[in-house]
Amino acid sequence: QYPKRIFSGIQPTGSIHLGNYLGAIAQWVKLQEQNEDVILSIVDLHSMTLPHEPKILSRNILEMTATLLGCGIDPDRVVLFQQSAVPAHTELCWCLGCISTMARLAHLPQYKEKSKDMKDIPLGLFVYPILQAADILAYKTTHVPVGEDQVQQIQLAQDLARMFNSRFGDTFPIPHTITTGAEYARLRSLRDPSKKMSKSDPDPKSRICLTDNFDDVVRNIKKAVTDFTSEVTYDPEGRPGVSNLIGIHSFVTKKPVEDICKEAEGINTGQYKLVVAEAVVSYLRPIQDRISYYLKDERYLLDVLRRGGEKAGEISERNMEEVRCRLGL
Ligand code: ADP
Ligand code: NA
Repeated sequence: QYPKRIFSGIQPTGSIHLGNYLGAIAQWVKLQEQNEDVILSIVDLHSMTLPHEPKILSRNILEMTATLLGCGIDPDRVVLFQQSAVPAHTELCWCLGCISTMARLAHLPQYKEKSKDMKDIPLGLFVYPILQAADILAYKTTHVPVGEDQVQQIQLAQDLARMFNSRFGDTFPIPHTITTGAEYARLRSLRDPSKKMSKSDPDPKSRICLTDNFDDVVRNIKKAVTDFTSEVTYDPEGRPGVSNLIGIHSFVTKKPVEDICKEAEGINTGQYKLVVAEAVVSYLRPIQDRISYYLKDERYLLDVLRRGGEKAGEISERNMEEVRCRLGL
């Protein structure tokens, strides 16, 4: 009934780690290569839910744009834009907020997690899952690529779409989630393989960032926590540390895990770490070169965002006209 459309957002945070790249950006590039209808938003309004520094935010928006382009996102094939440039997001957020309840939002795990040590909780932090639902629904999105940590947030978007449709008439498709087909879809912290690699981890040695230099990558991988077995074998449950390194290695070399393990026969995990570090560095180098190339051309980046914003604005405005009409506005 509704044509297939994929929407995803990424916050303009300073540095992206390999987990974000593998779990999100690389998937978008794949969808772009499959000629899917993809809309990608740099969700700057979401970055304001916690106290922020305006200068850093505007810098981060440009850096994220350069990063996405450097990773292979083609602005002629996907709609790439800045969320705050398109008014439909906040307008639809209000409309959906009026059919949602405080109780529903209070139960969402990310809110509980982020607000647990706060004395005064910003209203935006509480409301942001609705903004996220609006991001998705404003484009009549049918598919949303997500990590498993975000499934409940998408359920809110699905519920709001259903509620809106049943009260005001069929307007929104119920968005489905697409989970990644990657073999090792979730990278783990290098310091504690029981946790996922995350930018919120206070220890920078727990992750590999896209902008890390040679020394950082080698140091962090050398220090990666493994176990007391010296062979290189793949066993994500029993040996999460070394399996995580194999996952990273497999991703950057596009080699199947079995081939990697065969090639690593006879070397120990200490030696293997150097092989992985080498592979990661050679993989990142051209990406880093492209990112710095784009970063030198601020006008081009702004132009990419402006053109993307126009396209996103047209699509969402058409949908908002329908929404307003449904609501009697
Ligand atoms: P972080 O935990 O670093 O703050 P986010 O929660 O902001 O990352 O997620 C941004 C995107 O990156 C999401 O699509 C998420 O699924 C993906 N992602 C985050 N961490 C990982 C990871 N360790 N492995 C794979 N994908 C990840
Ligand atoms: Na996070």
